[in-house]
Amino acid sequence: MQQKTRLRVAVIPVAGLGTRFLPITKAIPKEMLPLVDRPIIEYIVEEAFTSGIEKIIFVNSKGKHPIEDYFDYDADEIKFAKKIERLKDSHDIARAITTISIRQHSPKGLGHAILCARPAVEDEPFAVLLGDDVIDADPACTRQLIDVFEANGQKSVVGVMEVPQEATSKYGIVSGKEKKPGLFEVDRLVEKPTPEETPSRFAIPGRYILTPDVFDILEKTNPSVGGEIQLTDALQGLADTSGLLAYCFTGNRYDAGDQVGFIEANIRFALKRDDTREGVKDLIKQIAKDIG
Ligand code: G1P
Repeated sequence: MQQKTRLRVAVIPVAGLGTRFLPITKAIPKEMLPLVDRPIIEYIVEEAFTSGIEKIIFVNSKGKHPIEDYFDYDADEIKFAKKIERLKDSHDIARAITTISIRQHSPKGLGHAILCARPAVEDEPFAVLLGDDVIDADPACTRQLIDVFEANGQKSVVGVMEVPQEATSKYGIVSGKEKKPGLFEVDRLVEKPTPEETPSRFAIPGRYILTPDVFDILEKTNPSVGGEIQLTDALQGLADTSGLLAYCFTGNRYDAGDQVGFIEANIRFALKRDDTREGVKDLIKQIAKDIG
């Protein structure tokens, strides 16, 4: 019997221009904006790492070098020797994983970004994590999806969550037959449908486990919504051929690509930390009083 490949590769697209966060993104990649004192990208990489990922492929574009710099460790240790305990967690992760950067030369969409990672992924199943979606979960969301992938004959899986009908136009939406509570065999996907045309309220918040046949499908995928090559369209190809599952993961997801979601994520993560919890609680109470 052929040995199954353990899932160890993740693709993290970071080429997005960050227009929703202008003007700060004129000079700073949106992935480097902080949640308390760690950049968003660290939460994403940490999720991958705690899910068993060993190799991360960043698909980047102009001006994104701070992301690569962030995962340096030796130089930091010399420079910040006195404060090294504050860097420990980041450095432990950076040491344990290999990061590779690949360029997306033009902004042709998420599907195109994933296709750019093909030479580094080679012929293995891989995870995709989108940086706008920060998911606080235990086990990590990507780990939950890998477990579903392994338990179902290594069939591709997307993480889904239920969203209000009026929010469907912000997401890739899936519909299908429920095999077990929370696990669906997907038959249809639509990128950003209007509330009137949506086939369901199950949205994909940026977590995928994909088999490498998706690359051949992406090669043939034409631009659609917004003139971009959409990953969601290629996933329809997977659903029609090797199959696709959707799994309702457990955990809290924050839309860190949106101003209000970003502020919420900051408050929630500050409330989880011993060094900031009490101060932030007092602050929230004070603000609530001030605004009545
Ligand atoms: C992308 C995907 C969409 C997915 C979303 C999750 O859209 O195209 O299918 O639901 O990420 O955040 P974007 O938000 O980049 O427009």
